[in-house]
Amino acid sequence: MAKVRSVHRCTECGSASPQWVGRCPGCGEWGTLVEEVEAAEVGPAPAWAGWGSGVAARPARPSTDGAEAEVAPVPTGVDELDRVLSGGLVPGSVTLLGGAPGTGKSTLVLQAAAGLARGGATVLYACAEESPSQVRDRARRLGALHDRLWLVGESLVPRILASVDEVRPDVLIVDSAQSVADPDLSSTPGSVAQVREVAQRLVREAKARTLATVLIGHVTKEGALAGPRVLEHVVDTVLELDGDRHHALRLLRAVKHRFGSTAELGLFQLGEVGLEGVPDPSGLFLADRLPGVPGSTVVPTIEGHRPLLVEVQALVAPSSLAEPRRSSTGLDRGRVSMLLAVLTKRSELDMGKVDVYALAAGGVRVTEPAADLGLALAITSAATGRAVPAPLVACGEIGLGGEVRSVTSLERRLSEAARLGFTRAVVPASAPEPPAGITAVRVRSLAEAIAAVGLLG
Ligand code: TYD
Ligand code: MG
Repeated sequence: MAKVRSVHRCTECGSASPQWVGRCPGCGEWGTLVEEVEAAEVGPAPAWAGWGSGVAARPARPSTDGAEAEVAPVPTGVDELDRVLSGGLVPGSVTLLGGAPGTGKSTLVLQAAAGLARGGATVLYACAEESPSQVRDRARRLGALHDRLWLVGESLVPRILASVDEVRPDVLIVDSAQSVADPDLSSTPGSVAQVREVAQRLVREAKARTLATVLIGHVTKEGALAGPRVLEHVVDTVLELDGDRHHALRLLRAVKHRFGSTAELGLFQLGEVGLEGVPDPSGLFLADRLPGVPGSTVVPTIEGHRPLLVEVQALVAPSSLAEPRRSSTGLDRGRVSMLLAVLTKRSELDMGKVDVYALAAGGVRVTEPAADLGLALAITSAATGRAVPAPLVACGEIGLGGEVRSVTSLERRLSEAARLGFTRAVVPASAPEPPAGITAVRVRSLAEAIAAVGLLG
């Protein structure tokens, strides 16, 4: 017998509250509580009755006593994806792939499905959002059709599982988690509770059947997995596909990964035939650069373990506004404001009466403090109209006193710069010896850097 009750559940952390409150008692977020109708089971004692009774169902073992071998990941054949997954998809694991609509989640998963099928796995793709014929058309264009890649147009969990029983796949793909429902569940279809319960059910099935499962999840503009942030807790791996919809570049990161590192970055270009790996991202980012134009610097950044050379650009123009315009694309807005204040206070420039536009070229996002020095030099160069000498990169964090601070992995950053033909690097005074081919220009402060590069005076 089921009794219906209403709860208010947080879309961020999933904690429940009997009445609506403005701020979630669980995670402290504001305005995240939504009403949900839940059926409370009244009847047999819950499965957890008897916990703590002193009888251990699974005896503890010394950590060294483990006979089970580790399960090896199965490569998907999509190299950049395998890199992020530390080798491939682990049998029986559950992976959530999040991303904004149109970033290419379905495309990526289809390419991986085809790769797994070619490798001998049977893959079942449950199309809950698009029709199987749409997915088949896309697969045809991608060259992803395969006998072992099965499609089913179902959005109800029991029917998807019935298909699983029939096809007996090694891998199940659910596109998307938000568009499947389960009539066996008491929660309302489409609600946060339903998405979470569906995910939990699929996770149980995945473990029980050793069925590798990939769930696609939509992400809202704010970057949260729409509603079910809570999904992140129940799955083994969370991947995020990220990219500016006006650019072809796509970045794939592991936000959580129980089977390996989360530090790897996958880089793709969305083209005519799906997502293609980018073997030389720095070369790609710098291909369209116009050396000798004021307002540009090249910054060696690190994403995961990968060094990436990115062009940072600035444009400075006299402002007629009481509050001058500050625009930043792909850069941290607060960081840009901070650097403008430091420039005004610690150099001869006055940035108080000018509009400033700053961007990271190519649709990348550069938010690490190591880009401060390069960005500050780009702004200075834009303000003075003198170009930063071409074969030069800059790397350093800037403090409020205008001091240039050390950054991590400097050697890796500079080796990448050397590989692409750069010969000079403005670096913090404490920097270690640069790699062969690079001359270090050591600076203690932003003012010293500006002078060393010849942007003033
Ligand atoms: P899609 O994989 O459907 O994105 P998502 O599942 O994340 O919503 O693809 C998104 C966009 O990619 C779509 O606008 C069309 C484009 N696209 C290409 O540019 N090339 C291709 O080969 C494919 C299949 C899609
Ligand atoms: Mg899709």
